[in-house]
Amino acid sequence: MAIGIDKIGFATSQYVLHLETLAQARGQKIEKYTTGLMLDALSITPITEDIVTMAASASKDILEESDKEAIDMVILATESGIDQSKAASIYVHHLLGIQPFARSIEIKEACYAATAGLNYAKLHVEKHPNSKVLVIASDIAKYGIKSAGEPTQGAGAVAMLVTTNPRILELSDDNISQTRDIYDFWRPNYSTTPFVDGIYSTKQYLDSLKTTWSEYQKRHHATLEEFSAFCFHIPYPKLALKGLKKLMDKDLSNAVKQQLTDNFEQSILYSRQVGNIYTGSLYLGLLSLLENSQTLTAGDKIGLFSYGSGAVSEIFSGRLVAGYEKMLLTDRLTQLQQRTPLTVSDYEKVFYEEANLDSDGNATFDSYQTGAFALEHIQQHQRIYVRKDHD
Ligand code: HMG
Repeated sequence: MAIGIDKIGFATSQYVLHLETLAQARGQKIEKYTTGLMLDALSITPITEDIVTMAASASKDILEESDKEAIDMVILATESGIDQSKAASIYVHHLLGIQPFARSIEIKEACYAATAGLNYAKLHVEKHPNSKVLVIASDIAKYGIKSAGEPTQGAGAVAMLVTTNPRILELSDDNISQTRDIYDFWRPNYSTTPFVDGIYSTKQYLDSLKTTWSEYQKRHHATLEEFSAFCFHIPYPKLALKGLKKLMDKDLSNAVKQQLTDNFEQSILYSRQVGNIYTGSLYLGLLSLLENSQTLTAGDKIGLFSYGSGAVSEIFSGRLVAGYEKMLLTDRLTQLQQRTPLTVSDYEKVFYEEANLDSDGNATFDSYQTGAFALEHIQQHQRIYVRKDHD
């Protein structure tokens, strides 16, 4: 039975921090960001835009009424949770008007969680072929003002509808995972920003890739020539490029190297403008590849490398379905150019604003631009969301 991604959507904030602006304020050469990290801009969320509003916006754009009747599970993967108990997917389920007899959960393992969500969705649809599962990766990557990770922040959500007979990507059964207990990047409950051992984290990312790929090759007798493109978790594009170079050994033909490199360039176009969106980053890379590559064709095999600090990694693949391009957009980069640019002092204020609760647990917020949904206020510790458009 063919199971996979039938629809895919993306949402990000309405504000952007251009790295040229940040470089000036931080006394860095712009090339450190644009060449050293391969990043140009970061999406910045105000307090009224969070993982729920972005998740709902990314999903709203792809779902029809018939999907909402058929969805019986909503999985929201995140490491920027808004509540230790209530799943963010419950808010999304309500905001989207999905039929009530559905399971809604939130899952976590750093940037890896959406891949686990995709796996669970696939197993569920295998057992219940008429059902559809909405898997959403939604995160806000916030490292702290003047931290080493500051130029790699970002925000966004990717929503994927998993069904039988998918119209975009048919998922294969070749997943190889790896777990290692490390402290490369982590965020204890008492901290609003993560603790990061930056250089160590990059080494762990690359070593997890190398060893998981070697196990994948061993178990599946696989070679890189089988793949038309490889997508990576993208904390910043330069690290993903180092990953691709690690996979391409010296015996690989120049033609294959060229194809993989060209497609890699297409897979980082959106991340260059948005920054790290943690668990959605791999899938933003996939979306960027599918919407921008001019060489992919139906049946092509695409490899995916998922990495979440802590750490869990996984390599798996999917095959492109004939007509996949009809399910995608062609103007996403233009849409990204419409975000409102922020000065550095505005970014520091807007991105790091905390709710100022009164003694009864109420807070109101200044008016900011958001997507189709907004966190309107907090009332007696309850988050009140509104839909701003009604198309
Ligand atoms: P840094 O201070 O930017 O490091 O921190 P750097 O000084 O090594 O510079 C970075 C690159 O810019 C280097 O290139 C420099 O040479 C280059 P490389 O040697 O790597 O090829 N450079 C320049 N290039 C051109 N012109 C110039 C110039 N100057 C310097 N003038 C670091 C980098 C990654 C440590 C930092 O950004 C950081 O802490 N980031 C956060 C952690 C991170 O992203 N880790 C990635 C792996 S872990 C992961 O992926 C999981 C994660 O997504 C979280 C999760 O799972 O939940 C993070």
